[in-house]
Amino acid sequence: MEIKKIAVLGAGQMGNGIAHVCAQAGYQVKMRDIEQKFIDKAMDTIRKNLERGLKKGKITEEEVEETVGRVEGTLSLDDAVKDADLVIEAVPEIVDLKLKTWKEVDEKAPEHAILASNTSSISITQMASVTKTPERFVGMHFFNPVPVMKLVEIIKGAATSDETVDAIEQVSEKLGKETVLVNEAPGFAVNRLLVPAINEAIFAIQEGVATVEDMDKAIKLGLNWPMGPLTLADFVGLDTLLYISDYFVEEFKDSKYRAPALLRKMVRAGWVGRKAGKGFYDYSGEKPEPLTF
Ligand code: CAA
Repeated sequence: MEIKKIAVLGAGQMGNGIAHVCAQAGYQVKMRDIEQKFIDKAMDTIRKNLERGLKKGKITEEEVEETVGRVEGTLSLDDAVKDADLVIEAVPEIVDLKLKTWKEVDEKAPEHAILASNTSSISITQMASVTKTPERFVGMHFFNPVPVMKLVEIIKGAATSDETVDAIEQVSEKLGKETVLVNEAPGFAVNRLLVPAINEAIFAIQEGVATVEDMDKAIKLGLNWPMGPLTLADFVGLDTLLYISDYFVEEFKDSKYRAPALLRKMVRAGWVGRKAGKGFYDYSGEKPEPLTF
């Protein structure tokens, strides 16, 4: 079956990036969120990010307009999924919310639709189990910023069929991405390493080992990371990191994955990183200013 229509659930940081790359690859996209202001913001972000390429002469104005024109925002889940060939869910990383969303999608999406979650850590098998077609359920994990990052992790749940994996490999290739196939495990391949590494940097800040600026500089220059771990934490979102850490502790039953108290405190304060204007850096000025802890 050829995939033509894609529903993207959630218009946040990941959702708008996924909608962007799908539309740019020629798919018809319906992007769903629960408030119009989230959809408006996502449409603005998609246009701005496409215009980066326009300024550099990598795409034409016509291509920008065509891509934006292939994304339709909607507040209705029914409208988003009713004729979708592929549903990609990118709602916040909260188990109950994901399960509730998938139960609703299962009632409204066509029988043939492939169901893919962009979860960063949660069990594919658990989400698949609330649908009637677990063989068509798969993990399709993108990385931020989606238009730039080359990887899609494809995650196989207990019942995911080879045909479903093949279909996602083909879509990913059409999006210009490379794929790796991972068997289900909390955090899959990338976040299993990334989240403990970022947490360790936060523990080091908490213990006064180095300043935010120096910790970032050390890892950037010492390990050749494109961003230091605290800049990356702000970029990913501290709320997402905390959800993943708590989920790891619950799933692995191992306290080595515990979140630093500082991370939890910052999330409680709403300082969740770049999207909030404040995290380990303050983004209110022209240039991010590191905070002191
Ligand atoms: N949309 C489209 N294009 C973008 C973009 C965006 N949001 N952000 C940057 N770009 C483009 C720029 O236009 C530029 O394009 P050209 O090469 O054509 O000039 C290119 O990307 C590089 O950008 P910049 O020159 O502005 O900046 P940079 O060289 O510092 O790179 C970065 C920016 C790509 C974000 C880089 O810092 C980086 O790779 N950081 C690490 C990102 C990372 O680790 N992401 C994974 C996070 S983990 C995750 O997402 C999964 C999870 O589950 C938690």
